[in-house]
Amino acid sequence: MAKSKKQKSRTKAESKKVVKLKSKKLAAKANGLPKPSSKPYGKDGKALTGVRILDFTHVQSGPTCTQLLGYMGADVIKVERPGVGDITRTQLRDVKGQDSLYFTMLNGNKRSITIDSKHPQGKRVLDALIKTCDVLVENFAPGALDRMGLTWEHIHKLNPRMIVASVKGFGPGPYEDCKVYENVAQCAGGSASTTGFREGPPLVTGAQIGDSGTGLHVAWGIVCALYQRMRTGRGQKVLCAMQDGVLNLARVKLRDQQRLKVGPLSEYSQFGEGVPFGKAVPRAGNDSGGGQPGWILKCKGWESDPDAYIYFITQAPVWGEICDLIGKPQWKTDPDYATPPARLPKLKQIFATIEEWTMTKTKFEVMDICNKVDIPVGPILSMKEIAEEKSLRDTGTVVEVDHPGRGKYLTVGNPVKMSDSITEVERSPLLGEHTDEILKDVLGFKAAEIAEIKNSGALSAPKKEEKAA
Ligand code: COA
Repeated sequence: MAKSKKQKSRTKAESKKVVKLKSKKLAAKANGLPKPSSKPYGKDGKALTGVRILDFTHVQSGPTCTQLLGYMGADVIKVERPGVGDITRTQLRDVKGQDSLYFTMLNGNKRSITIDSKHPQGKRVLDALIKTCDVLVENFAPGALDRMGLTWEHIHKLNPRMIVASVKGFGPGPYEDCKVYENVAQCAGGSASTTGFREGPPLVTGAQIGDSGTGLHVAWGIVCALYQRMRTGRGQKVLCAMQDGVLNLARVKLRDQQRLKVGPLSEYSQFGEGVPFGKAVPRAGNDSGGGQPGWILKCKGWESDPDAYIYFITQAPVWGEICDLIGKPQWKTDPDYATPPARLPKLKQIFATIEEWTMTKTKFEVMDICNKVDIPVGPILSMKEIAEEKSLRDTGTVVEVDHPGRGKYLTVGNPVKMSDSITEVERSPLLGEHTDEILKDVLGFKAAEIAEIKNSGALSAPKKEEKAA
């Protein structure tokens, strides 16, 4: 039966209502999120596209954080002191007159603007940047930001949405005013006292857990603050003390400190050697930090190659496979060796026997043989081997970048891979390379204003520094 005009329009109105209701339901289900992008993965911007960072960092901890944010697509504007820049530009130089690897490897994916933050016209530019950025990141000595006039109150008044993230050596307490570098943090965060051999002094590690580790923590704090800001509309302070960052990474040792109260730490080789434990967690050499005993063993060529070693883990489920490989099948059933508790007091002797076998093979041969039967082992890779490793180049973990001053150099790309936020590693900026572009395009200053600011000397090196150089 044919519908009348009235009936038809009613049907239309009704169906519109249904569609509205349906999309409301869908929106509720989607938690207020936009509908999924129809663009191919990797083609719809990056994770932090649209986020602008006022990067007031220097040396290593802060720059690690802002470089990671840059890898994720944030627009990172690095503020540097005119004529000088980040101190690492000239530290450990390998090419005369050029930015060092120390600087270039920590400052990719950033733009550089030079501003004297203590000059009135410099403050004018900084205030304008504060108004337009989402996050300020700094790792100055305690109080330095306030001495520049950039107090939380000042920043928050200009831009209540701004997140102010800081790295400091220590949190509030007796050492809060101290200046801190990497190894100080490793020592104060509990890493050094638990690293090294029992008979030797405390050791610091090569991995920069104080600087880069804390930079990583702060980056995480910033992303969380950005997420919370979506709900609250306001910024907040984000602080990570290097001592706290190191302790977070050394938490298994605080675990062991508490276990000490109820008895010796049976997985430490010291237990098997019958050496009594003291009041604090001891250094455990190359013992594994978990429940599966491990040790570093010599491989073929160790006499001349300092890295011809392998980390070998005697994981319980593959004990039988280990016994077969090393020619000790009787250990599979011998009650003195067959169970993990029975093996604990004999770890030193067991690893010495396994080492007799690993010494007949290169570390890569051990790797191949063991992995076939699921025995967890890890070759001790030198930095030379890592730099030359093809698979790390293929994944973008090690990247070659071209620099106009120093030529090609290797850097570490984004260690986190995301399917919809593809990292393109860019070279580090020259000192003040983007000053004009930022004043004009980001801050919208007119040519006359730029000239006024420049003529004031707020963006260039003071005369006496020029003479000294
Ligand atoms: N314009 C003008 N002045 C600037 C400036 C700029 N663009 N950038 C920095 N400065 C000034 C600071 O305001 C400060 O002056 P002040 O002492 O009068 O306040 C001065 O430069 C030095 O800054 P500071 O942070 O004290 O540098 P430092 O070289 O003496 O100390 C650290 C370096 C790393 C020890 C210290 O910054 C620190 O403890 N940071 C926190 C912990 C940290 O991150 N450590 C690890 C670094 S990898």
